[in-house]
Formats: sequence, C-alpha cells, structure tokens
Amino acid sequence: MTDKLIIFDTTLRDGEQSPGASMTKEEKLRIARQLEKLGVDVIEAGFAAASPGDADAIHGIAKIIGYSTVCSLARASEKDVRAAGEAIKPAKKGRIHTFIATSPIHMQHKLRMSEDQVVERAVQAVKWALEYTDDVEFSAEDAVRSEMDFLVRIFDAVIQAGATTLNVPDTVGYSIPVLWGERFQQLIARVPGSGKVIWSTHCHNDLGMASANSLAAVMNGARQVECTINGLGERAGNASLEEVVMAVKTRRDIFTCDSRIDTTQIVPTSKLVSSITGYPIQPNKAIVGANAFAHESGIHQDGVLKHRETYEIMRAEDVGWGANKMVMGKHSGRAAFRARLQELGIVLEGEEAVNAAFARFKDLADKKHEIFDEDLQALVSDEEAMQVSEHYRLVAMGAHSETGVLPVARVILSVGGKEQQADSQGGGPVDATFKAIEQIVHSGTELQLYSVNNITSGTDAQGEVTVRLSKGGRVVNGQGADTDIVVASAKAYLHALNKLDAGAERAHPQV
Ligand code: KIV
Ligand code: ZN
Repeated sequence: MTDKLIIFDTTLRDGEQSPGASMTKEEKLRIARQLEKLGVDVIEAGFAAASPGDADAIHGIAKIIGYSTVCSLARASEKDVRAAGEAIKPAKKGRIHTFIATSPIHMQHKLRMSEDQVVERAVQAVKWALEYTDDVEFSAEDAVRSEMDFLVRIFDAVIQAGATTLNVPDTVGYSIPVLWGERFQQLIARVPGSGKVIWSTHCHNDLGMASANSLAAVMNGARQVECTINGLGERAGNASLEEVVMAVKTRRDIFTCDSRIDTTQIVPTSKLVSSITGYPIQPNKAIVGANAFAHESGIHQDGVLKHRETYEIMRAEDVGWGANKMVMGKHSGRAAFRARLQELGIVLEGEEAVNAAFARFKDLADKKHEIFDEDLQALVSDEEAMQVSEHYRLVAMGAHSETGVLPVARVILSVGGKEQQADSQGGGPVDATFKAIEQIVHSGTELQLYSVNNITSGTDAQGEVTVRLSKGGRVVNGQGADTDIVVASAKAYLHALNKLDAGAERAHPQV
C-alpha cells in the first residue's frame, strides 16, 4: 500500500516573493488553471491581506478551480485570517494557512512576544480560521531554528484547537537532510495526536538542499510537500515541485508514497511559469532544463542508442518533453485555433478576445511558417500583457542598424490615448528603442534585467523578451514576444511600465 503524498504548490505565493516575479490577476489565473491540470492537491493562491489585488486574485482562482484545494496564507492576526477566509469563500475546497514565528530569534527580535503569547495567538488564529473552513493549516515559521520542546508545545495546542495540517518550515534554508529527517521523526513521535494530522514540509534552498530536505522529511513521515514550479521562491527559492515529484516517482523502491501529479504536464507548466515570471530556466536544471535529457558525450550517446536505460533514469516524454507539436499554419481556421487553445487550457473571455487573438495568430502565421503550442502561449500572454493597462501602447516603431553607423530608432506611442513620437540613437537597436521610449515617458525607472529567449527553434522563431524595471523599491517584469526581437523588446518595456503604472503596493507576509 502506498500513501498519498499531498503536493502543495506555492508558486503563486512564495514563488511570487521572488524579486520581480509579481504577477497580474490574469497571469495568476492562467497558472492556477495549469496547476490544476498538473494535478496539484493544494494551490496556495496568495496572501489575501497583502493587497486588495492579491485578495481579488485568490477570489478569482477560488471561483474557477474545481479539483484542487485553494488556499490563502494569513499571519496569525484576526485581520489576516478574515481576509483569507473571505478570499477563499467561492472555493469548492478552501484552506486557510496561518502562521507565526516560533524561533527565539524571531520571537524576541521580530515579534517581541513571549512563548505564551505566541501559543495563545496561534490557537486563536486557528479558531478564527475554523469559522470559514474546517481545512486549517498551521505553520511554525523558522521551525528549523526553533526549540524542539516549544515546537511540541505549540503543535499540540493547535491540534487541540482544530488544525488539520501542521507545516514545519525551514524558512531560512539552514537544514541538511539527515537533521531535517530527524526533526520530523521526533515531532511525530512526541506531539500528542500527531497521527490525526498531516505533517508538511516547507524548505527553502539557501544551501541548495530544499528538495533533498523535503524528501528526507517524506522518508520520516511528512505527507505534504510545499514546493514551487522551477523552485521559484523567496531568495534562493523553495523546493522544486518537479524534483520532488520525480524523485518520489523514480525511486518507488524507497518511498512508500506517491503523488497524483500528471507528470507529462511538468514541462508545459514550467515553461508557462518561466514565461510569465520572466525567470529563465537554467539549461542544466534537473527535469525541466533544456539539457536535462541531452547526451553530449559519445560514450553516453552510444549507450543510450543501444539501450536507453544505460544513462537515463527517467523518460523525457514522461515529464512532458517532446510535446513541441506543430499545431497550425496560415491556413488554419478559427475553429481549429479555438479548439487548440482549449486543449492548452487557455480560456479567453468573450468573442472579442478570441477574435483579437485569432487576428494576431494570422499575423504571426504570415511571418512564421509553423506555429507551435509555445507560440500560442506567448501570443496569449502578449494579448494579456496589453490588457494590464492601456496607458502606454506601442502604435508603431522602426529601428535601423548598419555597420559603422550608430543605430537609430523611432517609436510612436499612445500615452493615455494621445499619440507621441520620439527618435533616438543608441548602442544597438534595442538600446535606441528604449531611449526613444524614455524620451516620451520619463519613467525614472532603472533597467535591472534584459533577456531574450527563443520560444521555439529556428531563425523565424518568436523571441520572447523579459525586461525587469525597478522604481522606488518596486520591481516588475514585463514580457513581449514577436518574430522581430526589437519589437518584442519594446513591447516588454511597455508591459513593465504599465505594470508599474497599474500596480498597488503589496505587503510582505513575513514582515
Ligand atoms: O518560509 C516560510 O516559513 C513560509 C511560511 C509562511 C510558511 O513561507
Ligand atoms: Zn517560505
């Protein structure tokens, strides 16, 4: 008999705490739909008290998700818990995840609360949460540096108050597998009533051991893993969903549990999250990196050709590689276009949105012979990017570069509905374009990152550009895709400016 391993995905909450990874509501809805298709059990959709935008996104996700449980984070305060409770109300299955720090360093310096006060607050928070749902998770923040006796005391108290999942976070990524495993063994042995609850692990990757620590917890009784797609998350990130899921699946000989993840959806989900957040995937990243299944050495290639298992422990197609399907070309009709979007889990609201996307598809098909799933994903992201706010819109542009001559660019933007034009020189056509945009908008932002990825292969592929801008402590990513990378760059720059323009401030859960 294998136990069920609950996969709790926190890409939309802890993942969103990666610098610059903040997402719009539409982007979160798309990721949530894909997470459900992937088969995650719990989607932590955000932190409702952080901002009205966060609460609204959780509420929107709660409305559209059927199978997965939708969860909101909440500090152990009445205001936070009630905001979370309201946000998850439409969910078929809703969870409130409340937390308070339990380590001496956090209690003394951050909370300035005694142990008694912390226990009392945790118990109270669980009781407030139970007014909204009977699925209540409690986390002891910085459990890794908390005293074992105090952890036993607070976990005992919250079980008695009605918590159903107990999460043990390595908030600062300090543990190593053998110690993390022991921590679970001791907690499960010592906490009264530990058999009535699900034990959960939440590990950060500061020492590169988040996935290994999570797996050590699983080997010692944890039955929920909190993780993110591509290991996104605060600082060095969280345990990566794909690594944990594939380790448990591949090593059935040592794990006595399994998840219900549809592993063929791993790569599409990873690509979607990477394109929306603008966090590229390093080529040698386990499972989802471009080289994860590439064999370079002749000896390896020879071995794989003779018998695949000589050098491969997993099959690329089992994690969703090779799904690079040529879907359509310029002769494809509207019905086929709509059907393919549906298969990809992309929902466009209303006929107008479908018509606009179809017109853009036809434009793209004129420039590019074969259209792949990834092109459709990018096309829809682009469409959504344009809808963040109409404040800055690219009307037309041109750029010229020639050896020995300084590149020049001309842009025409619509700014709040009024057209403005500017010309500029620059070190290259992209630099000239950004300078021309700045002559119009005077944004006062700082460019922190500029990256280009080809969405599919070939020189006619669309380039997907990410631009990260910061201003006054806020950091946003913008994306743009086009077969012309200078145009894609301009779109990405304007997307980031529009996000800054539209964005409301968010609070940070751990502050
Ligand atoms: O890392 C952490 O401790 C957290 C908690 C809020 C669970 O993200
Ligand atoms: Zn965390």
